[in-house]
Amino acid sequence: MCLDGTMANLTALLVARNMTFPADGRFPGIRKAGIYDAFRYYKCKRAIILVSSRGHYSIEKIGRILGLGNYNVLKIPVNSDNKIDLYRLRQVCAQIRQANEASEEKIRIISLIGIAGTTETGNIDDLLELRKIADENDAFFHVDAAWGGSLLIVDKYRHLFRGIEQADSVTFDAHKLMYSPLSMGMILFRKETSLNYIKHASNYIIRPDSVDQGRFTVEGSRPFSCLKPWVTLKIFGIEGFKIIFEHAFDLTDTLRGIVERHPNFEPMNRPEIFIFNYRFVPKKVQENIDLLVNEIDHEEEPQKLIRLLKRLKKINETLNELNIELHRAIRQEDNSFVSRTMIESTRYNPQKIVVLRAITINPLTTPEVLEEIVEEQNRLGTRIYRNEFADRLEKL
Ligand SMILES: Cc1ncc(COP(=O)(O)O)c(C=O)c1O
Repeated sequence: MCLDGTMANLTALLVARNMTFPADGRFPGIRKAGIYDAFRYYKCKRAIILVSSRGHYSIEKIGRILGLGNYNVLKIPVNSDNKIDLYRLRQVCAQIRQANEASEEKIRIISLIGIAGTTETGNIDDLLELRKIADENDAFFHVDAAWGGSLLIVDKYRHLFRGIEQADSVTFDAHKLMYSPLSMGMILFRKETSLNYIKHASNYIIRPDSVDQGRFTVEGSRPFSCLKPWVTLKIFGIEGFKIIFEHAFDLTDTLRGIVERHPNFEPMNRPEIFIFNYRFVPKKVQENIDLLVNEIDHEEEPQKLIRLLKRLKKINETLNELNIELHRAIRQEDNSFVSRTMIESTRYNPQKIVVLRAITINPLTTPEVLEEIVEEQNRLGTRIYRNEFADRLEKL
């Protein structure tokens, strides 16, 4: 048990790092000798973590904390479903193997991370394939299920997570879909012995014969946080979670339907679990974009193609501004809340698009409420468009 998902990921990657540079002969292991000597002993020039570009920012933070640096958290692109692109991942791994064959100084993959519920889009990587790739490349396979993991409570959703049972470690947050108050993270290890790579002791508590979990935690003093998910489970029960998750799935479908039918909105992802991304695009602008995309698809003359792509980019940049303004207005209105992010995995790839991100997990939300919310967003978006963006977008 730990403070949150960040701590859970940190614990897993600390294990993975220490396992990559263990004690060996006269070398006492990275924990005692530190990174510099570990790299020298193992003839390592780079130690990296592989995760998709949808990876939570905590992974980069951890890269910094572990002394690896941001450049060594390699972000693998995702496909249009926001799952790690396995072809690109295999390419990167092959390049690493080739470089290692050609040099005395090695690149070591500390961990390959699969995501089970991407924070921005709610997608689950192909965990079965990732396990194979991790094995082929001698990497610790960690699954970050901080966001989506709670769905495993309900049997009918287990198939979404196929392969998670083969992970070396899994991060799980009770304060996300388990509806527990902030905060409680969990890190599960497949092999109990993995914990030996981070085990510590002290003379005044957690003595060597102690059974305290503090032997393995980054934190020292800790609250009794496991009470929270225990209580939630007691109150909701597995049946209760089933009702809540089914409702959330239904609401995502409803919201997606409303947005798809609405002339002034564009859906921006195909939700797998209940995170739906969309943006405000006035009908007239959407029609122009559709024509432009069609022209781009059929244009063969390079100069003309570049001109068309630049035009599309400008339109999307202006729409990005519009949607940021809209998001501010929604927050000011204060009747509903959606968050906002920027992703490249849309039909406009590689351009990053500002999207509204709706998570439909409030059990009290009804389809009628969703209709009202989208109508309010439409009213606000139309006002902002007319006042500030119509002229600009007309000229593009
Ligand atoms: C996939 C994923 N991993 C890790 C985290 C970090 O969790 P926490 O905010 O509990 O530290 C989050 C938080 O949103 C997340 O979505």
